[in-house]
Amino acid sequence: MLTLTNVTKNFGGLKAIQSLNLEVEEGQIHGVIGPNGAGKTTLFNLITGFAHPTSGEMFFREGDISSNKPYQIARQGIARTFQNIRLLPGMTVSESVMSGQLNQRITGWKNHSTKNIRRAKKNVDELLDFFKLSPYKETFALELPYGLQRSLEIARALATEPKLLLLDEPAAGMNEQETEMLAEDIARIRGEGCTVVVIEHDMSFIMGLCDRITVLNFGMKIADGTGDEVRNNPEVIEAYLGK
Ligand SMILES: Nc1ncnc2c1ncn2[C@@H]1O[C@H](COP(=O)(O)OP(=O)(O)OP(=O)(O)O)[C@@H](O)[C@H]1O
Ligand SMILES: [Mg+2]
Repeated sequence: MLTLTNVTKNFGGLKAIQSLNLEVEEGQIHGVIGPNGAGKTTLFNLITGFAHPTSGEMFFREGDISSNKPYQIARQGIARTFQNIRLLPGMTVSESVMSGQLNQRITGWKNHSTKNIRRAKKNVDELLDFFKLSPYKETFALELPYGLQRSLEIARALATEPKLLLLDEPAAGMNEQETEMLAEDIARIRGEGCTVVVIEHDMSFIMGLCDRITVLNFGMKIADGTGDEVRNNPEVIEAYLGK
């Protein structure tokens, strides 16, 4: 579904991503792990057009997306969440999700037909139900408990009806119970036909959830495989624990 060939991203002299080849298969939950600064967020920034590769190519469902802009990528069916929560002050929970959806259809609220808005509202209600956010519809997004803010961000990303969802450390700051619920949500999202790539530091979370895991270290892929394959890889153990 998503193929990166020989992708490199330099920031000045820093090689954030080095000659990366990556294959994400449709219908899978694909994990990306690696120590701090390994290049995980940069990888998402490249895929979503927030940054462009210094060299190499990226293909999504056969189309070359290497030089596309974020809004074009969103329209092609890739959505993401951010490592740091990016909810807007002054917006309620349902408005936050609605904004994700209407942005996708046409730019500017003025251009929305009543029919579009009605349809959007119905989808928003379904998403809020899906994430058990319905009781908080009229609550300001930033007044939600932290774990629910993270769920809301995923709901907003899903409002664009993506084929591929990229989650950057969605469990960060969550307690154990919230993390378990999140894992269930991600499995349900995949069940609805959306492919998921998830960056996460919580190992038991990632091992339990992912079909396949890619390990980055200093911008390079050092392992790629099932949880068991990756867990027993000497290079991975060294990257995490030292020699
Ligand atoms: N816009 C930028 N300009 C300059 N350097 C950058 C930029 N974005 C990322 N970097 C550098 O690229 C490297 C990879 O950063 P990145 O944020 O992708 O790591 P990460 O794996 O997501 O780390 P973490 O686990 O801490 O979130 C780091 O050394 C970082 O400082
Ligand atoms: Mg990061």
